Formats: sequence, structure tokens, C-alpha cells
Amino acid sequence: MEIRRLGSSETPPYDLLLLADPSLVLVERYLKEGECFLYEMDGEIIGVFVLLMLNPETVEIKNVAVREAMQGKGIGKQLVQAAIRLADEIGYRNVEIGTGNSSVNQLALYQKCGFRIVEIIHDFFTFHYKEEIVENGIVCRDMIRLRMELS
Ligand code: COA
Repeated sequence: MEIRRLGSSETPPYDLLLLADPSLVLVERYLKEGECFLYEMDGEIIGVFVLLMLNPETVEIKNVAVREAMQGKGIGKQLVQAAIRLADEIGYRNVEIGTGNSSVNQLALYQKCGFRIVEIIHDFFTFHYKEEIVENGIVCRDMIRLRMELS
């Protein structure tokens, strides 16, 4: 999968980034502090993720998202794998990713990519998001943190 860095003069694909995180304030913060990567098909942005350094050894994958019409075709998994490869090439030793307690499909995807659950931040979403988030009939309250150690 060919991915490319978002250019400094380009407008970030907010529609996609907000699919992964409904908070524009947080999305803007991750874009400012991290680096945004794009996957395109026929000139259209189909997928996105942000790599955010947590410390010199650890990077977090943020805002991974695939355009709705293209979901369920394996692109999300390839994006996560591309982000892991990139983190490895840059020289990070660990990759982390966080998701909500209600994001059951994302939890499946990340574990299928090799991530292990390491932490739960209770009430992260209740505290940081004004609007209640409900997915799969489950209120999203806690952040599940997952980690992968790169060899
Ligand atoms: N049980 C078991 N496996 C599941 C599953 C479930 N409930 N839901 C998904 N999966 C698996 C799929 O089987 C697939 O694995 P496989 O290839 O080994 O079969 C993998 O997870 C995901 O499939 P893929 O087609 O690559 O996902 P996608 O292209 O739809 O992208 C997202 C996944 C999450 C990026 C995409 O749905 C999206 O953009 N969602 C909105 C934004 C978002 O929620 N981002 C994450 C924020 S934490």
C-alpha cells in the first residue's frame, strides 16, 4: 500500500479524521503535534491516519479512518499495518493505539493486527467529549489502550 505524508500547504481530510474522533479540538491537536498520512485511489483520499510521538521510543496511531463507502474491504487493516511499518522504519520500539470500550470492530481489528490490551483509562470519553457516544448499543466511556512491541 502506497501512503504519503500530508503536505504542509494541503487541507487535512477533516471529514475522514472526524469519522475516527468526533472532537475537532482533539483532531486539530493531533494534526499539530503529529504527522498525517494519506492513502489515495484515483486521486481521491480514501484513508488516513496520524502518527503522534508519545516519547522517543513510542508512537501512537491516531485517527485511523477509511471512507465509509470503502470500509470492510481490507483497507483499514492495511492502513494499520502501514502505520506499524512506518513506525518501525522511523526507529520506534513501541506502537500504541487507543479506542473506545464500545468500538468492538476496531478492538477486533487492532488485535488481529497484533496489538495487546495494556490499559483502560476509565471515563476518558465521558470526561473529554460533550456529546454522549453510543456504538453497538454501548455507551462509550472508557478508553482501551493497546500496544505492540516492535522487534
Ligand atoms: N469481529 C471480528 N473481526 C472483525 C470484527 C468483528 N466484530 N469487525 C472487524 N473485524 C475484522 C475484519 O474481519 C478484518 O480482519 P480480517 O481482514 O483479518 O478479516 C478487520 O477487522 C478490519 O477490516 P478492514 O476491512 O480492513 O477494515 P476497514 O477498511 O473497514 O477499516 C476502520 C476499519 C475502523 C478504519 C473503518 O471502519 C473506519 O474508518 N471506521 C470509522 C473511523 C473509526 O472508527 N476509526 C477508529 C477509531 S479508534
